[in-house]
Amino acid sequence: MSKKIAILPGDGIGIEIVAEAVKVLEHLSSGGLDLELTEAPVGGAGYDVAGKPLPDETLALVKASDSILLGAVGGPQYETLPRELRPERGLLGLRSELGLFANLRPAILYPQLADASSLKPEVVAGLDIMIVRELTGGIYFGEPRGIREKDNGEREGYNTLVYSESEVDRISRVAFDIAMKRGKKLCSVDKANVLEVSELWREVVEKVGEEYKDVELSHMYVDNAAMQLVKWPKQFDVMVTKNMFGDILSDAAAMLTGSIGMLPSASLDANSKGMYEPIHGSAPDIAGKGVANPLATILSVAMMLRYSLDEPALADKIDAAVGRVLDKGLRTPDIMAEGCKEIGTAEMGDAVLVELA
Ligand code: IPM
Ligand code: MG
Repeated sequence: MSKKIAILPGDGIGIEIVAEAVKVLEHLSSGGLDLELTEAPVGGAGYDVAGKPLPDETLALVKASDSILLGAVGGPQYETLPRELRPERGLLGLRSELGLFANLRPAILYPQLADASSLKPEVVAGLDIMIVRELTGGIYFGEPRGIREKDNGEREGYNTLVYSESEVDRISRVAFDIAMKRGKKLCSVDKANVLEVSELWREVVEKVGEEYKDVELSHMYVDNAAMQLVKWPKQFDVMVTKNMFGDILSDAAAMLTGSIGMLPSASLDANSKGMYEPIHGSAPDIAGKGVANPLATILSVAMMLRYSLDEPALADKIDAAVGRVLDKGLRTPDIMAEGCKEIGTAEMGDAVLVELA
């Protein structure tokens, strides 16, 4: 049966990089993988055509799809829109409407790019961390929220950081399962010295951990985790954390690798339906110039094959093809280094296709 893949390029460089990933999907398709690709607008592009960042037709499409490939959303021209019409709302809407509660954000240092990190090579060589970020709860979605006026006429903004036991239970199971397939170490990051919500989080993670005796579980306060990530990141295997902490720590972890243009991500629901996207944003400053790095998006296709389409061998093939392209010294400007050859977005996509063929 054919698998339905929704293609949502979004804004900025999203359009260029997704086009390269689509070439890879089409290549797999011609090789016998039965895929049906349908494109739809989201983010600023959704606002432009339908007046809202998550158009009804796009939502209907993603709900009927097996998997979603997303580029990036956002751009300066949308920044003055009311909050509910901004591109980011399209992304948050996709996450919540599809119940994509588990966000997997790997931070892997490609040996060919070891010099790209701002940290010393010995600190980052061989780095391979998986951050599991809770994605549909916590302060991003907690109610009540808003900006209100106090009695004295001063305004105050407020958000609510809330997690139920079941939300913590399901995200920690995802993290433990991943740890089982990797180095069997899980670090849960919280702020249990200050927040009640973290106290409960820790308790639930401990309880789930009793079912995963083979996994070495530790807990760390988020401020310390930020410090440890830049001090000695290789102490981590899998990390699990709340929505907002995960947003922050995953950016830091991505930058350890020095090449945010290389990192894919997956956002999964309870049945492994997923949305796959590069970790980086829409980079309006370089949009349309044909210089953006499409590899994170191409590697997101590999994650899709691994986590949603049950095609691990094809996923390995893509990962290996990207590795060989790097071995050949081909680089987009963001990862350019001495002695390498600088190429553009489409050439990079083509180079991966050559290796796949
Ligand atoms: C991310 C982004 C989003 C987030 C924004 C664009 C809403 O920073 O995916 O990390 O905060 O989750
Ligand atoms: Mg972020």
